[in-house]
Amino acid sequence: GGDKLDFEIRPNPQPVAAAERATLLTNPGFGRIFTDHMVTIRYAEGKGWYDARVEARGPIPMDPATAVLHYAQEIFEGLKAYRAADGGVTLFRPDANAARFVESAKRMAMAPLPPQAFLDSLRHLIEIDREWIPDTEGGSLYLRPFMYGSEVFLGVRPATEYLYVLIASPVESYFSGGVKPLTVWVSPDYTRAAPGGTGAAKCGGNYATSLIAKAEAVAQGCDDVVFLDAVQRRYVDEMSGMNVFFRYADDTLVTPPLGTILPGITRESVMKLASESGLTVAERPVSFDEWRADAASGRLREVFACGTAAVITPIGQVRFPDGEFTIGDGEAGETTMRIRQTLVDIQRGRGADPHGWVHRV
Ligand code: COI
Repeated sequence: GGDKLDFEIRPNPQPVAAAERATLLTNPGFGRIFTDHMVTIRYAEGKGWYDARVEARGPIPMDPATAVLHYAQEIFEGLKAYRAADGGVTLFRPDANAARFVESAKRMAMAPLPPQAFLDSLRHLIEIDREWIPDTEGGSLYLRPFMYGSEVFLGVRPATEYLYVLIASPVESYFSGGVKPLTVWVSPDYTRAAPGGTGAAKCGGNYATSLIAKAEAVAQGCDDVVFLDAVQRRYVDEMSGMNVFFRYADDTLVTPPLGTILPGITRESVMKLASESGLTVAERPVSFDEWRADAASGRLREVFACGTAAVITPIGQVRFPDGEFTIGDGEAGETTMRIRQTLVDIQRGRGADPHGWVHRV
């Protein structure tokens, strides 16, 4: 098939009743509740993308020899649909997610999904499941597109068949404390990605390798883990699923350079918004030693994590095997919260959108 796929729409004959949905939406948490439908699109070598459909969300029967179960050829995306004040629905930079999905597919030797098909799948799911978008200020519908090697084959080579799936989950804060500053654990043992590896791809495997370090962080009383670079074990890479920013007293905002980290869409947007608001933005390596020294001297004022799921969440406390230190007074920083508000206002369709980041559905 070409880029323009026809989606077959088969509405769920047994959707969740409105009253039950309203109850579920009062306290959704993160990633626990799902809408009535899903989108699937198949790919086969020589045939291209075909069989695009919207149907009742449900289990996907799988042969035990399905390639992804063995060699982990899997990628995903994450973006949110927001209920705007005028009753419409907004998406934030979905074209950037579509483009990154192509890049992730290439890195994992998978068939890239045409961006138009990706965007159409979002539109179809939002249209049929729009009642699932929370109307609370902190709420949104988290969209999770993903794709895996669906060929039934145990040989080690790229699969010749793929399944693209889109599901959706009403969510509130990613961290249970909301925007309460995080305590992070700097992992002494584990790294996330090496040069030449898959660090820049949004593949499930990157998250699989982060889990033991995140569990260690939780065991240390922390909310999340910070990984250092795999070569020198000195420079900050990223967290389990978020990029990191540092705000200094001279109003520079620094974030680690791309390469072994995820090229976050929130990361890129924050860089743009911050520089437009008068901060000097730099992508450069930040070592753990420098982080600690600058926090102690007061030169470093604020640190925050950012991502689609976490939005912008302040980091107040940093723990490592030999001790811990506090950022500023340990509370949410002013600059952090100002950038957060600017970003959230754009995402929810309020105020100016000079970059054309907001797509209305
Ligand atoms: C995101 O959507 O922000 C992610 O990176 C995925 C995960 C941390 C929930």
